[in-house]
Amino acid sequence: MDFQDTERANIVSLNDISHSYDGGKTWIIKNLSLLIEDKPGQGQFVVVLGMSGCGKSTLLRYVAGLQTPTEGTVMVKEKEVTPENRVSMVFQQYSSLPWMSVLDNVGLGLRFKGMAKSERDDRAMELIKKVGLEGHENKHAQYPTLSGGQLQRVAIARSLLANPEILLMDEPFGALDIKTRLSMQDLLLDIWAEYHPTIVFVTHDIPEAVYMADDIYIMKSAPSRFVEHVHIDLPLQRDRLTKRMPHYTELVHLVEDKMMSVGEMG
Ligand SMILES: Nc1ncnc2c1ncn2[C@@H]1O[C@H](COP(=O)(O)OP(=O)(O)O)[C@@H](O)[C@H]1O
Ligand SMILES: [Mg+2]
Repeated sequence: MDFQDTERANIVSLNDISHSYDGGKTWIIKNLSLLIEDKPGQGQFVVVLGMSGCGKSTLLRYVAGLQTPTEGTVMVKEKEVTPENRVSMVFQQYSSLPWMSVLDNVGLGLRFKGMAKSERDDRAMELIKKVGLEGHENKHAQYPTLSGGQLQRVAIARSLLANPEILLMDEPFGALDIKTRLSMQDLLLDIWAEYHPTIVFVTHDIPEAVYMADDIYIMKSAPSRFVEHVHIDLPLQRDRLTKRMPHYTELVHLVEDKMMSVGEMG
C-alpha cells in the first residue's frame, strides 16, 4: 500500500522504520513508512489507530526526539530530529510541572528558547485564553487544583506555543470523563480551525477518530506497520451535528470493519 505522497514537502516522515529491543531477534516494528505532507496554513489532522502494544506511542516518541528507531530515519520538516527541532507532545497522563503555575507551564517551551519573561507571558496568556483557562493562570498546574480536562488544556496550550506547526497527541482524552472528552474534542477542532497545525493523534476511540480526522492510518501488530488508510471525506467544519450525518456513521462502520480485518492479518 502506498502511504507516500510526493507532491509536496513532508512535515513528518517516517522512512522505512524498524525497531528491535533484542538486537534483531524480534522486531516490534518492521519496514514502516508514513509521510505526512506539509500544508502550510491548512494543516492536517492525522489519526493513528492500532492495537495496544503495536508501537503507536513509539512512533510519536520518535517525532518528539525521545527515542530513535533501530533502523530507518525520522524527519520533521525534512530534517532529522535533533534536540533543537524536537516537537513537544501531549500525553494521556498529566504531564505539566505541578510546582509551576499554569502560566509558567504554558510558556515553558519559549523559556527554553530563551525568550524574555514578559514576552513569553504575553504569548502564553493568549493561548491560555484560547483554551478557556483565563483566571486559572496563577494556579499550580496540578490535580486536583485543576481538573483532568483543565490539565489537558494546559498541555495543549504549552505544546501549541512551543511548536505551533505540529501537535503530537497520545491518547490525550483517554483519562477524561465522557462529557469532558466531548468538549475537549470540540476545543481541539476549534484550535485546528484557527491555527491549522498538523496534528498526529493516537486514540482507541473510532467515533472520536472519525469525528476529528482528515486521514486515519491503521497499524497491524507483531511486527507493526501501516496497512490501511481511510480518508475522512466529511465537511472540514465539523461540530456535533456532523455526528448525526449518515455518512459519519458509515465511516465509523467502515473503520471498525478495517480494524477487525487488520486484527486477523498475519
Ligand atoms: N524497553 C523495552 N523493551 C522491550 N520492549 C519494549 C520496551 N519498550 C516498549 N516495548 C514494547 O514495544 C511495543 C510498543 O510499545 P508502545 O509504542 O508503547 O505501544 P502502543 O502505544 O501502541 O500501545 C510494546 O509491545 C512494548 O511491549
Ligand atoms: Mg501508547
